[in-house]
Amino acid sequence: MIEMALVIKDLHFSYSEMMSRRRVRSQSFLNWSGLSGVVLEDNRKEILSGVNLSVKLGETICIGGASGQGKSAFLRIIAGLAKPTSGTLYYFGEHIPIERHDALEIASRQVGLVFQNGALISNLRVRDNVALPLRYHGMGTEAEIEDKVNMALDLMRVRHEADLFPHMLSTGMQKRVAIARSWAMDPKLLLMDEPTSGLDNYNRRNLLPLIDNMRKLFNTSIIIVTHDLLIAKELGCNIVFLQNKTLTEPHSFDYWQKSNEPIAEELFRDLQAKE
Ligand SMILES: Nc1ncnc2c1ncn2[C@@H]1O[C@H](COP(=O)(O)OP(=O)(O)O)[C@@H](O)[C@H]1O
Ligand SMILES: [Mg+2]
Repeated sequence: MIEMALVIKDLHFSYSEMMSRRRVRSQSFLNWSGLSGVVLEDNRKEILSGVNLSVKLGETICIGGASGQGKSAFLRIIAGLAKPTSGTLYYFGEHIPIERHDALEIASRQVGLVFQNGALISNLRVRDNVALPLRYHGMGTEAEIEDKVNMALDLMRVRHEADLFPHMLSTGMQKRVAIARSWAMDPKLLLMDEPTSGLDNYNRRNLLPLIDNMRKLFNTSIIIVTHDLLIAKELGCNIVFLQNKTLTEPHSFDYWQKSNEPIAEELFRDLQAKE
């Protein structure tokens, strides 16, 4: 049996927030209650409905889809930063019930998230940015942490920038530092939100082999949310699309490129125009 890094069955997710203020028109209510005439309304917005996904150990998978469909929200759920409304999630074969689904519980399964904007801390040098989560989680002595940091910086080819602050780096380097920070934590499942967005072709071309080398070296499973569907071609991995609150079946780049399903036609149109 192939071991799975992640299995998600019938996942649902809604944002539930006090989002808007509604003016109460009923004068009699106001007179009776003496309140200000403004109440908060609980808006529930369903983002994901019936999502299924399986990722094998050492597998890379790309998630595509139009903006605003919930791709980032989905990654945040997988990372434990948002709680699903319902569904069943297995991390490395272990069922984590929704009551226990939180950032610490999921991080302890060695699941790492690289945010779209990198989320580097501006007043910390590169090496301290990368060391930060290791120190926070008490992962080793200072000497051991330094070794892990240096290894991650070497892997992402940013060792020479170790003593610089984030604003001194190009966007490409900032992305690599953000990936190094996740990498230093020795993730078994790495989630990346738009890793190539904002990169020029040169930086993009350099980044993909670095990501793939790490996967091969450590048999890490990787989920990449991206508009850049050519990543899937270059990494030889499957693509799933998020549309209408659910995920499609996984298929190769070549399959989707030939497919006449509307989502594929829509998202591959730009690529085909370039060819
Ligand atoms: N904190 C939030 N509260 C309410 N709605 C949100 C919140 N964050 C995102 N959304 C909404 O959820 C939907 C999905 O957002 P997102 O996951 O960022 O999409 P994508 O990454 O696919 O572009 C969007 O309609 C967005 O406006
Ligand atoms: Mg997003």
